[in-house]
Amino acid sequence: MQKSTWVATPNIAVVKYWGKKDSQLNLPANNSISVTMDEALSTKTTVEFSEKYKEDELVLNKMRASESDLGRAVKVLDAIRKMAKIKYRARVESQNNFPTAAGLASSASGFAALACAASDAAGLKASARQLSIFARLGSGSACRSVLGGFVEWKAGKKKDGSDSYAVQVASNNHWPQLRNVIAVVNPGRKKVGSSEGMELTANTSPLYKERIRTIGKTIAKMKRAIIQRDLQSFLELTMRESSHLHAVMLDTFPPIIYLNDISRQIIEGVHDLNAKKGRLVAGYTFDAGPNAHIYTLEAHVGEVEDMLSKISGVKKVIVCKVGAGPRRLPSSESLF
Ligand code: DP6
Repeated sequence: MQKSTWVATPNIAVVKYWGKKDSQLNLPANNSISVTMDEALSTKTTVEFSEKYKEDELVLNKMRASESDLGRAVKVLDAIRKMAKIKYRARVESQNNFPTAAGLASSASGFAALACAASDAAGLKASARQLSIFARLGSGSACRSVLGGFVEWKAGKKKDGSDSYAVQVASNNHWPQLRNVIAVVNPGRKKVGSSEGMELTANTSPLYKERIRTIGKTIAKMKRAIIQRDLQSFLELTMRESSHLHAVMLDTFPPIIYLNDISRQIIEGVHDLNAKKGRLVAGYTFDAGPNAHIYTLEAHVGEVEDMLSKISGVKKVIVCKVGAGPRRLPSSESLF
């Protein structure tokens, strides 16, 4: 058994996952599409299976993880142990280069890095499909971070989740000019976690039923926009889909509100910039938090940054390219 260290990056959905068919296996109610980020934001994870560990141990950013985070990691480790036919417990250490639970998708990069490092440490030669299934058990959106580029998570039909995994729509080199300008608004911990929020939405929102009924069409249009590098369609679909998700959240009872005044100023700033240009040059999307991810092309990054610099609640701006997906690090980079 060898120690293994991997780095993985978050992904930001342009067609969002919100709602589960099975909350144990994290089987989603709908397909989703995301873009994997480059290593401007990343999680590094080292895993070792050994008889010297009596229990699975998880250290996150140098602190012992909560029971709930440990529980999610154990689901991934158990699936890997079962496939590798090993019984050893594991030590897992993981470090983010950005704040955890700030809506910057740390669970996605975290569980993708865990799936890759743990299956490698267990001696499995797992396919991307298998890694995606392992990562999904920790956090649904993580199944998309095992691949680089533009990624679709197929919801699947089977009860055991064996057909619910991510596939690449296009590689990270497909649209080299594309950028994600992240406006960090509030790096605090969020109030309502995604799992809890999506269950409440599915149980209480009439608008959500309409979302699930029509989302297949959005998926098809988004895939076409990506494959054709059709910026106008990509940006419009991205903004409409984000607003749709947040409308459904507001239609939840009691309502779930992740956007704040700063997020709203960013939305207006993007539309003002587009109006000034006479075409769409930027498009925002928001996950379960107030931070904005603004897609644009390299040529317009400066204008987007200018717009953001006038909004006083924007704490930090990070510019990402499309990332290539997880990679193995040499043993000299091991976290323990
Ligand atoms: C709004 O993947 O965090 O970011 O499966 O319960 O861990 P769990 O949820 P999670 O939900 C992500 C929701 C989202 C949309 C998305 O990434 O598609």
